[in-house]
Amino acid sequence: MDSTDHNLHEDVEEVLLTTEQIQRRIGELGKEISLDYSSRSPILIGVLKGVIPFLADLMRQITVDGEIDLLAVHRPNGYGHPDMEITKDVELDITGRHVIVVEDIVDMGRTLDKILEHLRLGNPASLEVCALLNKPSRRIVEVPVKYVGFDIPNRFVVGYGLDYEERLRNLPYIGTMKNEPEA
Ligand code: IMP
Ligand code: MG
Repeated sequence: MDSTDHNLHEDVEEVLLTTEQIQRRIGELGKEISLDYSSRSPILIGVLKGVIPFLADLMRQITVDGEIDLLAVHRPNGYGHPDMEITKDVELDITGRHVIVVEDIVDMGRTLDKILEHLRLGNPASLEVCALLNKPSRRIVEVPVKYVGFDIPNRFVVGYGLDYEERLRNLPYIGTMKNEPEA
């Protein structure tokens, strides 16, 4: 069964990316990262919680030895507000290591900018970013995203880890919402 055959969740307007499209692209990203890091052992740092399915699928497409760690951020005033704090730091020592930050989505760029600023203090040998989704039209802070799964239009999306007020992370596809939240 194709994911487009699922009964759509009642809050979803349309499927933007099917399970199959997502998995195919992750296969390509995994190959690219494995080639680029063939002589280096990366640490993948996932940004909770939206990254859970993406990190789980991406790590299994990477064929070089590497390690995994997690970082959590909290936006006390919600989506679209600039306030952000790191509520869980990485546990591995990243000094002199090759770090890849793995994110679900880069929107305005503020979250990633703060995360990169924070991780640079740990003096990694290199620091790159892999984001499943990218909304280039919304960027207000320039952030270097080396690996991008999909550039998407300026729509609020849910599913495959992405939430609306903590719900809908479990959808196997990525879809747009019927009543799109204002940012
Ligand atoms: P930025 O600081 O604007 O780049 O915010 C990125 C963060 O906002 C992501 O990590 C998500 O948690 C959230 N976000 C941005 N766009 C969306 C969306 O379309 N759906 C769900 N969450 C989003
Ligand atoms: Mg997120």
